[in-house]
Amino acid sequence: MVEVVESDAPSPSELLAIQALVDAATAADHTSALSDDHRLALRRGDPAEGTRLVARDGREVVGFAQLLRGNDVRSLELVVDPDHRALVVDDALTEAALQRAAAWGPGRVRMLVAAVRSEDDARLARFGFEPERDVLQLRVPLPLHVEARWPAGVELRTFEPGVDEDAWLTVNNRAFATHPEQGGWVRATLDAHMAEPWFDPKGFLMAFDHQGLAGFCWTKIHADEGLGEIYVIGVDPGRQGLGLGRALVVAGLQHMAELDVPTGMLYVEGDNDAALGLYRSLGFTEHQRDRWYITEVAP
Ligand SMILES: CC(C)(COP(=O)(O)OP(=O)(O)OC[C@H]1O[C@@H](n2cnc3c(N)ncnc32)[C@H](O)[C@@H]1OP(=O)(O)O)[C@@H](O)C(=O)NCCC(=O)NCCS
Repeated sequence: MVEVVESDAPSPSELLAIQALVDAATAADHTSALSDDHRLALRRGDPAEGTRLVARDGREVVGFAQLLRGNDVRSLELVVDPDHRALVVDDALTEAALQRAAAWGPGRVRMLVAAVRSEDDARLARFGFEPERDVLQLRVPLPLHVEARWPAGVELRTFEPGVDEDAWLTVNNRAFATHPEQGGWVRATLDAHMAEPWFDPKGFLMAFDHQGLAGFCWTKIHADEGLGEIYVIGVDPGRQGLGLGRALVVAGLQHMAELDVPTGMLYVEGDNDAALGLYRSLGFTEHQRDRWYITEVAP
């Protein structure tokens, strides 16, 4: 019998059980069980940011959900223990989280389902969820055996903490102006990511031209998984289509290959034709498809 208990601010022992669950699901699925936004929010554990729900089977923690208030749309993520992958746990957590969201007042809730399965659309439709967008995880074997060809006048160096933050935020927010997660970053968002143990400025490539920062390729090494991720890549809209994006991808992958990382990886929106064309032409192929769902709730 699965029971879901709400816990705005989990106790230290609950947090340990939740972290063990997230780690187990991450290891079983070879992909992060929580997005970075949710992982950082869980660590902060701030009740003002949202709430956490824990599913138990007897005394055992078998599932976890986090519902964040967000700006205009609430965000829900679920993690289910790999040994208890019965849909009853997902359903119990989804139902409890949506009830909680409705109690906050009318609004929309967005949920990410990693490695979406063919039955998920119909299962989640029962909760009013509709597919909103797909995010693809692409991979490529390394090394690439392609040289980066830079547009004339472009100079490359790595990110300098304390110097480059404002320029990076400007170009990132221009490149991702319409993107729900990657657009609208503020200094605190960047600082939180730079404080992460994986952050390495040597893997954060910055391309400058005579006008200033033109584009960047921020990489993240997942050493345990043998993966090098192109974490964020962007070219200022005024300099797109000139070959800079291609050169930045190649340079980012070359950096990973120099660290003996065997596989390059990235996430891309399923409808981002410009980026998909670029990655496919470099040999990337689809490894996993994640799907965002959205629903409306009201008390
Ligand atoms: C994706 C992005 C980094 C590409 O950078 P770019 O400098 O514009 O790309 P390039 O000029 O190097 O073009 C590389 C390839 O992209 C593809 N491409 C570029 N613009 C395109 C467009 N508007 N439509 C379709 N394909 C396009 C082409 O396949 C091109 O191949 P080619 O070299 O054979 O011509 C850039 O468009 C960008 O910053 N977009 C917004 C942020 C973003 O979506 N980042 C990627 C998230 S995963």
